[in-house]
Amino acid sequence: MNKAVTARAHTNIALIKYWGKKNSELIIPTTSSLSLTLDKFYTDTTVFFDDQLEQDELFLNNTMIKNKALTKTSEFLDLVRQMAGIKAYANITSVNHVPTAAGLASSASGFAALAAASSKAAGLDLNRKDLSRLARRGSGSASRSIFGGFTEWIAGEDDLTSYAHPIQENVTMDIQMLTVVLDGSPKKIGSRQGMQHAIATSPFYDTWVAESAVDLVAMKHAITNNDFQALGELAEHNALQMHSLNFTAKPAFTYFNGDTLNILNLIQDLRHQGIQAYATMDAGPNVKIISQSADTQIISNAIKNNFPSALVEIAKPGPGISYL
Ligand code: PMV
Repeated sequence: MNKAVTARAHTNIALIKYWGKKNSELIIPTTSSLSLTLDKFYTDTTVFFDDQLEQDELFLNNTMIKNKALTKTSEFLDLVRQMAGIKAYANITSVNHVPTAAGLASSASGFAALAAASSKAAGLDLNRKDLSRLARRGSGSASRSIFGGFTEWIAGEDDLTSYAHPIQENVTMDIQMLTVVLDGSPKKIGSRQGMQHAIATSPFYDTWVAESAVDLVAMKHAITNNDFQALGELAEHNALQMHSLNFTAKPAFTYFNGDTLNILNLIQDLRHQGIQAYATMDAGPNVKIISQSADTQIISNAIKNNFPSALVEIAKPGPGISYL
């Protein structure tokens, strides 16, 4: 104890989405999911437990945070304190190299880095499976950011059986995600709220659960067979199914804005021209274009010509958790 530990975790983007919990307290999802960890976006978090502190203190991107994010962080640290049998509060310093809360999964890298740094700083020596289970308690998708490359989060039934594991950490396929950020503002409906509303009210929710299991099996085959086209088609289909739950919820809602649809149209046009480009979207309006390195220039140019203000970044497969 009493030592500062810094961990780095990269974001991941789901190719087979997680959208709904069967246990909200433990964050046990209704479906298994599968993601790609990205090299470009990550969070570095340092944690130091200090007997002198009277409460946890959180600095995010050099700003002291006192709002909901602090409460969420403290609740998460309570789990770590309980596991380690300690009482001390912590100083947490986190630097996010991800646009926060714009659907680029900053909570995934954030809670994965926090799980790794805080458990080690508290004197625990968790293996990656247990780190994944711990990270899950902060944010479901964080369970997958413990690992690099293609990672599956097995839904499981309870705290012990719900965790992520690597499918292929050293990715052999030529795959990248072009992230197109047109709107970097925080999302209006949090993923937690959005997914539970979809479960409760979309008439298609049970169909989603059944279809998602089928997509997952096919996705694993696409990865094993290095079949980029199958992977892209499945990922786009699965993402649109997830967003359809929101369109069919009562009342309906969506994370899309007009530009999301414009970019989806552009991607279809590119495909008609023979370019292999596929879209995936999360709890925000921004689109990630699943593509291959040879097509980077043509896709970026198409985006820039049509959306001059768009911020385009290219992310390749990234590594799992590391300590700095
Ligand atoms: O882990 P959360 O609560 O941020 O939810 C993530 C939900 C999606 O990003 C939309 C899908 C996913 O599997 O990452």
